[in-house]
Order: sequence, then structure tokens, then C-alpha cells
Amino acid sequence: MSDWSAKNPYISKLNENWILNGEGSRKETRHIVFDLGDSGLEYKAGDALGVIPQCPPELVQGLLDACGFSGEEEVETHLGDCNIREALTNRYEIHRISKKWIGNLGDRIAPDSPNIEIRIVGRHRASTEDGELLMDWSGSGVEDDVPEGYVEIGSASDPAEDLWRSLMDDADAMEDYIWSRDYIDGLADFGHIGFTPQQFVDGMDRLKPRLYSIASSPDFEPGTVHLTVAIVRYHHHDRDRTGLCTGYLADRCDVDESEIGVFMSPTRSFVLPEDNSTDIIMVGPGTGIAPFRAFLQQRQVNASTGRNWLFFGDWTEEGEYLYRDEMEAWTDSGLINRHDLAWSRAGPDKVYVQHLMKQNGEEIWNWIDNGAYFYVCGDKNYMARDVHSTLIEICSEYGGMSGEEAKEFVETGLMKTEKRYLRDVY
Ligand SMILES: Cc1cc2nc3c(=O)[nH]c(=O)nc-3n(C[C@H](O)[C@H](O)[C@H](O)COP(=O)(O)OP(=O)(O)OC[C@H]3O[C@@H](n4cnc5c(N)ncnc54)[C@H](O)[C@@H]3O)c2cc1C
Ligand SMILES: NC(=O)c1ccc[n+]([C@@H]2O[C@H](COP(=O)([O-])OP(=O)(O)OC[C@H]3O[C@@H](n4cnc5c(N)ncnc54)[C@H](OP(=O)(O)O)[C@@H]3O)[C@@H](O)[C@H]2O)c1
Repeated sequence: MSDWSAKNPYISKLNENWILNGEGSRKETRHIVFDLGDSGLEYKAGDALGVIPQCPPELVQGLLDACGFSGEEEVETHLGDCNIREALTNRYEIHRISKKWIGNLGDRIAPDSPNIEIRIVGRHRASTEDGELLMDWSGSGVEDDVPEGYVEIGSASDPAEDLWRSLMDDADAMEDYIWSRDYIDGLADFGHIGFTPQQFVDGMDRLKPRLYSIASSPDFEPGTVHLTVAIVRYHHHDRDRTGLCTGYLADRCDVDESEIGVFMSPTRSFVLPEDNSTDIIMVGPGTGIAPFRAFLQQRQVNASTGRNWLFFGDWTEEGEYLYRDEMEAWTDSGLINRHDLAWSRAGPDKVYVQHLMKQNGEEIWNWIDNGAYFYVCGDKNYMARDVHSTLIEICSEYGGMSGEEAKEFVETGLMKTEKRYLRDVY
């Protein structure tokens, strides 16, 4: 075993990075293959891969320009000292403004003192010969009290102070504000108060790795790790934006070239049954298909005799039937014994995986009663919750239990005692 970790990631390259969706799809779901090279990294079907993203260089440059920094200024960070360009690229999440950073503005944007703090920001002095970028100065705020040649920017009637107060006083307004804004937006609203490089990074969220359920079995795809990644793209305040890691993987990670930090995140619970003759039911719409591709590869390698039932769903068959060729080949070969597909945007009514579970309730109950494992992967907030309640309804209806008994059977019996209802939801 190797000792690569989030703090000491293996620097991997990509073998593949392509869009799984059909032409015309409005989704961008990518198949991304990492090369494990001589890392010694090992994994099993069901594990996740940690990926360490980097912030977009144009966003880093935009922030440096807006603040009048060269990028070479030293700052203190949770990982030690470094220059601010490195800090904004690899140590902080600069694509989403943090509450703490906004809170930190308090001392300077709404000072308790009746004196008005005036700050002259670097942009306004970018042409000074001595290269000094910032100057703090407090005065009464009356016109004559401003040194000659300087521009007064902050004042007690500053609308930014009102905005700041409204965010600090109203949690919903704060959530709304940070939901769609990055630090470029933050500087547009508050940048005039001026920042030293250290003040600018203090309070930003630390950059965190993202986890992805592995979509391959190490025995079927030796030396590589496959992922199924839904790219997050949105448009706010007249700019296109992406999720940090998915934007990085989609837009800035080139096959055979880019160096990407990765590490394994092993699971103890989301595993195949030890007994290869045990049946499994897998519910994995959208990117939830990922670990089930891994499970199916592994069941093929193991020549498992247990039956495999796959529920998959997404918007349309044409656009979002992920891994169609492989799934159809496995259905033809008999590896997939039951295959139910829910297309939510193909007709007038939403068809979701749990609707198909309901239609097949009796058979699902028979499989479970016979010892089958039940797996769910994908969206935690809606899909997994609805699949959970549908499973309870099925157990109640076909297992002859009251609603309460079925809930107990599923949540205590299957989940906790027998550990054969397993979820990988996010
Ligand atoms: C165990 C585990 C397994 C996972 N497996 C997978 C997997 O197999 N495939 C996969 O694709 N993902 C998977 N994920 C999710 C993945 O880790 C990331 O969370 C996801 O890729 C988004 O990361 P990001 O850095 O691109 O987005 P971030 O920069 O973290 O941004 C995502 C945020 O953007 C927000 N957002 C979305 N749309 C908008 C909008 N219109 N306006 C403003 N904000 C918006 C979302 O609410 C979310 O909070 C998994 C997560 C876990 C914990
Ligand atoms: N917690 C998270 O942050 C999280 C989790 C999962 C996905 N996402 C984001 O969502 C985007 C796409 O993800 P994805 O491709 O994996 O697909 P997805 O959004 O999970 O959608 C897959 C399928 O599930 C359907 N669905 C929606 N609500 C459902 C419900 N209550 N029960 C059952 N099925 C339901 C969708 O239908 P409709 O869309 O037609 O309703 C779609 O057909 C990505 O941007 C991803 O990052 C975020």
C-alpha cells in the first residue's frame, strides 16, 4: 500500500476525459480516467477518489488586478507562508465568497468609532513610483482633512456599509448573497475599503478536495481509476461560472498533460456482498451510476452467480443514457438480469427510478426477502429520500408489515443490523 493522502496527493495524469452525453444534451457528464502509474495506489469497487482542484488562473489574475497586487506578495496561510498567487490558486476557494470573509470586513467597513476611516486602495495608486500599494489613514472626513493628491473613497454614508449591515443582520440575505457571488463580485461591492494581501485572504474558505465515486473495478481496468463527473456550470451577474473541481476537470485538465493531485478514499460499508451468490439491487440515476459500473465490472471478473438488478435514470434516453453500450452489452450477456430505465424528461410526466421500483414492488420484495443487498447512489436531498420511502412502502405492502414495522425493518434491520441496505449519496 502507498501512503498518498489529501495532504500528500499522488500527482496523476489523465488517460481519458470525454463527454458521455449524446449530441444536443444540455447536461455535461464526463468520463474521466486517471492513470495510477507507479503510485502503488490500490482500491476496490465502492471506493471514492479524492481530487484536489486548482482555482481558475483568470479568476486569480482578475483578483490580483482588482486589488493592485503583483502576485508576489507573501501571505500567511493555514499551510504556511507563500505568495498570494499560490494562495489564491491552490489554498483557498476563491470561486465562492465566504461569510467569514464578509464578517471580517466589519472592523473597517462599519467602524464603531465616530471617526471616518478613509482608505486609499492600490488601484488608485498603481502608478506610484515607490510601488507602495496601500495606505491607511484616519481623519474626520471633512474635505480639508484629506491629504492632497489622494482620493477619499470610504465614508460613513457608504452604501457598502448598508449592504454589509443587511447581510450581517439577515441570515437569508447572507445565504442569497454568497450563493451566486465570488470575490470579484465581493470586490465590486466592498473593494473600495482596500485590502492588504493578508487582509484579502483572511477569512476565505480553505480549498478542499472533492470526492468522486469510482466507476471502475481495479481488476477490470488495471492501473486506472474511472470517474463519472457531472460538470456544474451556471451563469450569475453576467458571468459564466463553474463548480471549482468540475470546472477544473472539464476546462483545464488535458489528457496526458495536466498534473492532478489525487488520493484514495476507501469505504468500509459500500461494498459488494462477500458471498458472490447474493443478489444485488442497484439504484443509481445520473452520476449515481458510477459505483454500479464498478460493481458490475467486479461481478463479471468474480464470475458471481448472484443476480444483478440495475435501476438507472436521467433526463432522456438520447441525451443522458450514460454508458449505454456497456449496459446493453451486459444486459445481452446476462450480467445485468433486470434493467429498468427511468427517463424524467422524455414525456409529459416525470418518470423517476422510484416509480419503476413501485411498479416492480413485489419482485423487489422477493429479492430482498431472499437476502438481496439494496444499494443507492446519487443525489442525497431528493432522490435518495424518495427511494428510501418507496422501499419502506414496498416492504410494507408486499412483506405484510404495518408502515411502522416496515420502517423499522428497513432502517434498523436492513440498514443497521444486516447492513445490506447501503448508500453512497451526496
Ligand atoms: C462520497 C461522494 C461521492 C461523490 N461522487 C460523485 C460522482 O461520482 N460524480 C459527481 O459528479 N459528483 C460526485 N460527488 C460530488 C462531488 O464531490 C462535488 O461535490 C461536485 O462535483 C461539485 O464539485 P465542484 O467543486 O465542481 O462544485 P463546487 O465549487 O463545490 O460548487 C458546487 C456548489 O455549487 C452550487 N451550485 C450549483 N448550481 C448552482 C447555481 N446555479 N448557482 C449557484 N450555485 C450553484 C451547488 O449547490 C454546490 O453547493 C460526490 C460527493 C461525495 C461526497
Ligand atoms: N448534493 C449535491 O450537491 C448534488 C447531488 C447530485 C447531483 N448534483 C448536481 O446535479 C447535477 C446533475 O447531477 P446528475 O447528473 O448526477 O443527475 P441528477 O440531477 O441527480 O439527476 C438524475 C435524474 O434524477 C432525477 N431526479 C430528480 N429528482 C428526483 C427524485 N426526487 N427522485 C428520483 N429521481 C430524481 C432527475 O430528473 P429531473 O432533473 O428531470 O427532475 C434525473 O432524471 C450536477 O450539477 C450535480 O453536481 C448535486
